[in-house]
Amino acid sequence: MGQRKRIGILTSGGDCAGLNAVIRAVTHCAVDVHGWEVLGICKATQGLMNRPPQVMRLEPNKVDSLLMMGGTILGTTNKGNPFAFPMPDGSLRDRSQDIIEGYHLLDLDALIGIGGDGSLAILRKIAQEGGINLVGIPKTIDNDVGITERSIGFDTAVNIATEAIDRLHFTAASHNRVMIVEVMGRDAGHIALNAGIAGGAHIILIPEISSKIENVCFHIKKRQAQGFNYSIVVVSEAVCTEAGETIKKTEQFGECRLGGISQYLADCIAKGTGAETRVTVLGHTQRGGIPSPLDRILASAFGVAAVELIAEGKYDSIVTWQQRQVKSVAIAEAIQNYRAVDPEDTLVKTARGLGICLGD
Ligand code: F6P
Repeated sequence: MGQRKRIGILTSGGDCAGLNAVIRAVTHCAVDVHGWEVLGICKATQGLMNRPPQVMRLEPNKVDSLLMMGGTILGTTNKGNPFAFPMPDGSLRDRSQDIIEGYHLLDLDALIGIGGDGSLAILRKIAQEGGINLVGIPKTIDNDVGITERSIGFDTAVNIATEAIDRLHFTAASHNRVMIVEVMGRDAGHIALNAGIAGGAHIILIPEISSKIENVCFHIKKRQAQGFNYSIVVVSEAVCTEAGETIKKTEQFGECRLGGISQYLADCIAKGTGAETRVTVLGHTQRGGIPSPLDRILASAFGVAAVELIAEGKYDSIVTWQQRQVKSVAIAEAIQNYRAVDPEDTLVKTARGLGICLGD
């Protein structure tokens, strides 16, 4: 056993299933295997801005039941960039130094940051400025963090979306309807493509492949002519309208929330095919709930690997899943390339081979 360390762990950005399983894995490995101390930092970097820093001591007996629990016991936020943090008087302030000071006040040897590409980029910048020994773990239902083939939360989100699509087949068939299912994913179509194939969708629309309403309507009419009385369309929230617009709402500090493309499509399809249409927006159901076995396994493997990186002093790195193995790479390398769906991807080819219309 090496020198006793005190490490911090925080969850940042939107929550997803599997975060608690990471917290559990990190605690078991750090405390049980290495004899270290683990402090959970509350509400992402905001816990380090507060005075005293807002933390909870994590012990194996406190975290054991977290494996199957959704959300994050530490809390998180996807608002309030620390470099332009919204203050109560409405002004924006750079609070990165408060975070750095919080880390040093806690006398931490290292920090594990669980986040998507946005959070990891911010954490890395703060770590570089303040001498923070950072190790990253990728999480996001969008599955869009560079290099890693899988991020925590994605598999559960795909499972939830698939189950919803499964259910819609029966009600769609009973009423001769076209069902439009809107899934999350921000700018990446991974959830739509995976859940669409797994759920037997007839049309899958993703932002990486530009689609035309005309082609979608043609496919639905073709199915009608073939005797199929219903169709299921899965659309990613970032798909644009015919005019090239993303349907979104901009919030107070410039953050935008996507959502609404399914209703637009439903209206266009009803007009173009005469079919009755209905919309299901899955929204945050995709982020909540019990993590899938795969997400629990990934979370456990990533948690253990992150602790081992700290034991080896390999900071400024992130754990990734590549070819059935956990591999560590530099955080900068992992986030420099956004992982969108490659239009030549195996799953895109699979969808085409199944006769699924991608709208192009
Ligand atoms: O990035 C994860 C994600 O769930 C996206 O898929 C979605 O667009 C966004 O977060 C929703 O964010 P919020 O929780 O702020 O509504």
